[in-house]
Order: sequence, then structure tokens, then C-alpha cells
Amino acid sequence: MEMQDLLNKTHDEKRQGEAYAPFEADPNQYKKRFYIESYGCQMNFSDSEIVASILNNEGFGATRNFLEADLVLLNTCSIREKAEQTVRKRLTEFRKVKESKPGLLIGVLGCMAERLKAKLLEEEKLVDLVVGPDAYRSLPMLIEEAETGQKAVNVLLSRDETYADISPVRLDSNGITAFISIMRGCNNMCSFCVVPFTRGRERSRDAYSILAEAEDLFSRGFKEVTLLGQNVDSYYWVDEQKDEVITFAKLLEKVALVSPTLRVRFSTSHPKDITDEVLHTMAAHENICRYIHLPIQSGNTRVLQLMNRTYTREWYLAKVDRIREIMPDCGISSDIIAGFCTETEAEHRDTLSAMEYSKYDMSYMFFYSERPGTLAERRYEDDIPEDIKKRRLQEIIEVQNKLSKESNLKDLGKTFKVLIEGNSKRSEFDWYGRNSQNKVIIFPKKDYTLQPGDYVQVKVNDCTQATLIGEIIN
Ligand code: SAH
Ligand code: SF4
Ligand code: F3S
Repeated sequence: MEMQDLLNKTHDEKRQGEAYAPFEADPNQYKKRFYIESYGCQMNFSDSEIVASILNNEGFGATRNFLEADLVLLNTCSIREKAEQTVRKRLTEFRKVKESKPGLLIGVLGCMAERLKAKLLEEEKLVDLVVGPDAYRSLPMLIEEAETGQKAVNVLLSRDETYADISPVRLDSNGITAFISIMRGCNNMCSFCVVPFTRGRERSRDAYSILAEAEDLFSRGFKEVTLLGQNVDSYYWVDEQKDEVITFAKLLEKVALVSPTLRVRFSTSHPKDITDEVLHTMAAHENICRYIHLPIQSGNTRVLQLMNRTYTREWYLAKVDRIREIMPDCGISSDIIAGFCTETEAEHRDTLSAMEYSKYDMSYMFFYSERPGTLAERRYEDDIPEDIKKRRLQEIIEVQNKLSKESNLKDLGKTFKVLIEGNSKRSEFDWYGRNSQNKVIIFPKKDYTLQPGDYVQVKVNDCTQATLIGEIIN
């Protein structure tokens, strides 16, 4: 899979742990170095850019080489057990580095820090710092503490922290696409999910700071922004001066008006909250991309109720109909969990049929992983044996593979406006870009006057399950 394929994905199976160095960093500007790896969802990758900004102000420059670092940070994820295991394994690898470099500080940030708190210091003796997602402003103080040999912890969650005034340092950027965090936390309490516990209460960021960030990115040559939140449709901010309520639809419109050549995407939408107003706003602006990530989780109403998703199978499928009614060319993708507590074979097949009905272009698919402290862990037995979970997941993956292929075959012969993001990973003679529907398109460069950030019309001639292959047409 193309590395760039992964740039716009919300969730955590891809690009995990990739080391980052800032875009256009001046290596001589800083007296100390930090190395950061990010795991989990795009919110975490976005937070790492806030952390980089805070550390730059403290005289720490980023390095891609952890052997050079004075401070190693892992920005961690707790969403599934496997995500935590990956981080623990990585920590034991850093233990070896620390043995040969005693002054090295090792810090755990993000959701695992929040979930395990000071316990992490007991379990992982080499960790010096534990900092939760709302406490990054205290990093300079905590680093100072850790430098004197104390263990430093701050895992306080906040009701209002949005880091609105901190300009993220774009890490490992392609200079064309960027993420903008518009809210933090989640109030939804899906019974399987640890996020409300690790990220705290939902809060929306000042709309004008979001707009200023989008304008700044555009003035620096960026051509696409993705507005990020666990549940973007519940964005809500009141402009007290103008006495104006800014909903997600209003915010989308404001960002779309920054420039017709700035593409706008967003993630994630909750099926219960996405409104007609949002759909009509998308339809009214060509530069708001025709793509919605609309996680279903399960296609069975009883299971959805246990999951506390607050919609039924019928409600969800009606949303899909509504999207297609208002924007017939809209791409739709999903998140799906196989083998949630008490799920029967028939209920599992409801998920497969809902996938067929929704004709997803792409999905992130998981088997259920019980998380300590969640509603499901307290209320229901995790009673589906692992081999059955895995078999059901495999069936879900097979359906999705078929749907992805069918979706791509339907695009053969069509022409799309594509934003060039860079070279194809396989060949420097080909460009890599995406269409409005978020599909990756690879095409020969043809003439050499084009560059990343340009829009071109590309006709699709061929495809694989994951990628469209085309040619530029004039
Ligand atoms: N806020 C987003 C999702 C964030 S987590 C939303 O509501 O859609 C990303 C995905 O991880 C979820 O959509 C879900 O499919 C999956 N997930 C969350 N908790 C999980 C668990 N305990 N086991 C397996 N998958 C889980
Ligand atoms: Fe988790 Fe549900 Fe919130 Fe998404 S909406 S982060 S799945 S609790
Ligand atoms: Fe994201 Fe993982 Fe936390 S998905 S919000 S980093 S638990």
C-alpha cells in the first residue's frame, strides 16, 4: 500500500510508530533533540504536532534518529489490546538504548498514559514521564522535573483545553495536506470504547482559531485540510461577540470559503449526528470533498443497542440513502467490529448485509477487544471465542474486498479532478493523488510542468482493489 494512502486515514492500523521530523527544521537552531513516535488515530498524530511546537519553544529540535535524542516520546493508543502491546514492546526496545545512554529521558504520552497513569511508572521502570492528552502544556515543567531524576506525571483531563493558540509544527509533512483538530474528547460512551476515558469530555475549539490555521496553511501552499474530531458533527461553538452559534455545517462552510482551491475533508462522523444541513453544505461547495467516513460498527439493531450507538440498522441505512440522494457521487467508508459480546451468527450476517447495502468504498475492520473500565467490560461478558471473532472478521474483510473492487471497477472510464500530492511510491515517473471521493489515483507525469499541489483531470483506465490507475487528460 502507498505510504500516502495512509495519510488521510483516521484509525490506527497504519503508519503506526512512524518517526517524525519537522517540515523545514533547522538542525542548528536547537540545543537538545527529541524523538517522537505516534500510534493510534489521527488525533494523536495531530497532538504530536502540538507537542513538537511546545518542545521547539523549549529549545528541543526533532530528530528522526532516536540514538541522537535527549528525549524519546511515544504518543500512545489504548483503543485495542494489540495497540497497547505494540507500545510495550517498543518500550522494551528503548530500555536497551537507555542502558547505554543513562541521561536519556523516556516519556509516554497520549491515551495509554491517561489510562494507566502512574501505574505505567511501576510497570515500565524505565519511563520517566507520563503525560496525558490534556496536559501537554506542562511538558516543559515535567521535563525539568525528570531531568533532576524525579518521575514526572500529569494526567489531568480538562473541560476546556483545545490548544487553540498553539500553532502545530507540521511533522513529516508533504506540504500539501494537513490535519486541523477542531474538537477534543468524546461524550458518546459507546460501550466498547475507551476514548471517553482517555480523552475526557467533548469540547469544541474556537472557530476563528480553526479558520486562522486553515488560512495560514493555505498561504503556505497547502491545498487540503482535514478537520478532525471523534465526532465532528457535534461541533458547537458560540461566537459571543456576534452572538452567533457555529455548528459543524457552519464551520465547514467557513473553512470552504477560505479558497475554492483549498480542499476540505473531515473525520469522523457519527451516524446519529450527521445532519441534512451538513450534507447540503457539502453539496453546495465543490471543494468540500465528496467523502464521508460513517462508522456502522454493527449491522444489527440489538448489537447496536448493546454498543450504545443510539441508532438502529434502519436509521443507519436511511442515512446512507440520504447521503446518496443529496450527493450521488459521495464516497462512504466505515468502521466495523466483529464478535462483540453475545453477537450471534445471524447478527453477524446482518453486518455483512448492511455492508452490501451501503456499498462501502473502504472500511477499517476489527475484532472486538475488551477494554478495562468500559461499559461493555462492566456489563457484558466477552463471550465470543477468539477463533470465531477472527473468522467473522475474515468474512467481513472478504465482503469489503469485493465491495472495494466493485467500487473501483465502476470508476473505469470516468474522469476525476485529482490533487497531486507527490510521487507515486513505486515510481518517480508517476504522480500520486486523490480524487474528491478520497480514492488514490496513480498516473504518469506526462509533461514536467506540473508539481505537487496542482489539480489535474485524470481519466481512470485501470484499477486494483486499493488504487485507481489513470492518465492526465487536457
Ligand atoms: N470516534 C470514532 C472512532 C474512534 S475509535 C467513531 O465514533 O467512529 C476507531 C474505531 O475503533 C471505532 O470506530 C471502532 O470501530 C474501533 N474500536 C473502538 N473500540 C474498540 C474495541 N474495544 N475493540 C475493537 N474495535 C474497537
Ligand atoms: Fe468511541 Fe463512540 Fe466516542 Fe467514537 S463516538 S470515540 S467509538 S465513544
Ligand atoms: Fe485515538 Fe487510540 Fe486514543 S484511537 S483517541 S489514540 S485510544
